[in-house]
Amino acid sequence: MTQKALFIALEGGDAAGTTTHSHLLKGFLESKGFKVYLTQEPSQSKIGILIREFLKNKEIPPTTDALLFAADRDLHYKNEIKNKLEEGYIVISDRYIESSIVYQSVQSDKITVDWVKEINKFVGLPDITMILDINPKIALARKEAEDLEKFEDSSFLAKVRNLYLTRAKEENYHIISSDDIIEIVQENIQKIVIEKIKNLS
Ligand code: TYD
Repeated sequence: MTQKALFIALEGGDAAGTTTHSHLLKGFLESKGFKVYLTQEPSQSKIGILIREFLKNKEIPPTTDALLFAADRDLHYKNEIKNKLEEGYIVISDRYIESSIVYQSVQSDKITVDWVKEINKFVGLPDITMILDINPKIALARKEAEDLEKFEDSSFLAKVRNLYLTRAKEENYHIISSDDIIEIVQENIQKIVIEKIKNLS
């Protein structure tokens, strides 16, 4: 049987575990014999590298961030994700468009969800978006103070969480509590993916 392509995005507030769970999910799917391509945003491109530098810098305007994230995604989708999907891979992206919708619009009253959608409208959307939901207090307790980036304080994270939950309801995204232990969270993620794969075949 040839494998059908599937595009999965893992989303959530900081320290929700998108990176840990993306890796675990890749390992699980590979153990079942699937070809998996794991990627992340900000991407490995020059734009992605610049964004990572800017994440430490509070002087960068939120609009600049939003435009750079959109440019990085445009390149990431067209040069990388799309090709892998065409080759029949399951692509897992550790963060994607919802990170921009949520993080950039929460940063400024002038940035609307519609504008972020508009500047991101040239990329393909995931088949499954999963929101790892975490209590901001637990999130901050998981981080060392010196590792904190500009988005990482409790009131900001609470706003991020609320908007993710609102978006999940509007768009019918899967919400998975990430307050639980890793094994349980991962099992819940795997169930959703396996169900989707069954429906593809
Ligand atoms: P990263 O160190 O990858 O955080 P994490 O491991 O928690 O995912 O940094 C990504 C940061 O960039 C994170 O704070 C979310 C933010 N971000 C945006 O603001 N907009 C975006 O479009 C993306 C992809 C990430």
